[in-house]
Amino acid sequence: MKLKYSILISFLSCFVFGQNNSFQPGKLWKDNDGKHINAHGGGVIFVDGTYYWYGEFKTEGKGGNTALKGVSCYSSKDLYNWYNEGIVLKVEEDPKSEITKGCIMERPKVVFNKKTGKYIMWFHLELKGQGYDAAKAAVAISDSPKGPFVYKKSYRPNKGVWPIGFKDELKSASADERNLKSWSPEWITAIQNGMLVRRDFKKGQMARDMTVYVDDNDKGYLIHSSEENLTLHISELTDDYLDFTEKWTRMAPAGHNEAPVILKKDGIYYMITSGCTGWEPNEARSFKSSSIWGPWESIGNPCIGKDAELTFHSQSTYIFPVQGKKDQFVFMADRWKPDNPIDGTYVWLPVTIKDEKPVLKWFDEWNLNVFSEN
Ligand code: DGJ
Repeated sequence: MKLKYSILISFLSCFVFGQNNSFQPGKLWKDNDGKHINAHGGGVIFVDGTYYWYGEFKTEGKGGNTALKGVSCYSSKDLYNWYNEGIVLKVEEDPKSEITKGCIMERPKVVFNKKTGKYIMWFHLELKGQGYDAAKAAVAISDSPKGPFVYKKSYRPNKGVWPIGFKDELKSASADERNLKSWSPEWITAIQNGMLVRRDFKKGQMARDMTVYVDDNDKGYLIHSSEENLTLHISELTDDYLDFTEKWTRMAPAGHNEAPVILKKDGIYYMITSGCTGWEPNEARSFKSSSIWGPWESIGNPCIGKDAELTFHSQSTYIFPVQGKKDQFVFMADRWKPDNPIDGTYVWLPVTIKDEKPVLKWFDEWNLNVFSEN
């Protein structure tokens, strides 16, 4: 009788309650309510035995990439099955609010600050009706991973501060640099030499696609596409993770990188990025460095196999470690659906390091046992 009962329970959990036992990259991924998970451009943290997945809550139709609700959160014990925790940072009705309904809130990432005991959310904010011109990094705070997060402020980072090691002779503009033809060799050299850093020096540097990284020594960093998405900036955060120390560096100048994600293994930092093709997928790139401050060495496309040149039709959004396991990392990416953004799917894959290079291999279906098979 007991055996029959347990078989019935397992049958019910798999087929009736729709329990997941694996990842199926690119497929519909249902939450506990049976609805496709709505947490795009997301990130994951682990707190006291539970994973929390934060992401952009998208809606139907062409306007669905603007923020009409806010940032969503899901929780899970096993990474396969996710419970909808609702909207944890809500857009505001006040038209004067920076996060008024209809603004753009992208790529939210949450980290825990050990010193203050607060959960800190950073995201890319574009002000309503201004397209992608504002290019700001914004921060919100909560006492609990389940929110609610309270909006604090937005920044153009590193206002009035040069990056570390920026040469004195580059601090003033040459007379004719603004007239250079985009993508000409002279223009690329001017970008590499900080033309746009100089342009935005007083206003603060642009911040679009971004991630937050907390190092082993608890130092936090915002890694953001800046300079019209031409150059990545790595900006150190203050001890409370709410502001910038003004120590920052440029990475891959004129390399045109978006969607930065990062992991550290055996003292080496690995970053994976995408190129810049809007909502369309492109070939991922990877870099390594023995210091967060660089120099970063370009080490090519981390994807292998079919559709590797299109990052398996997706774009990176985060890498997180599997808890309780050594050096097991999950790469998170989005398959955007700009015509109906709510339909966007998720590509989660194991990321392994081989010969000091990150490797992303496609699986139609996989589970966490894959790591022990490597
Ligand atoms: C690609 C970025 O990675 C996304 O987050 C989003 O900003 C789109 N571009 C907008 O076109």
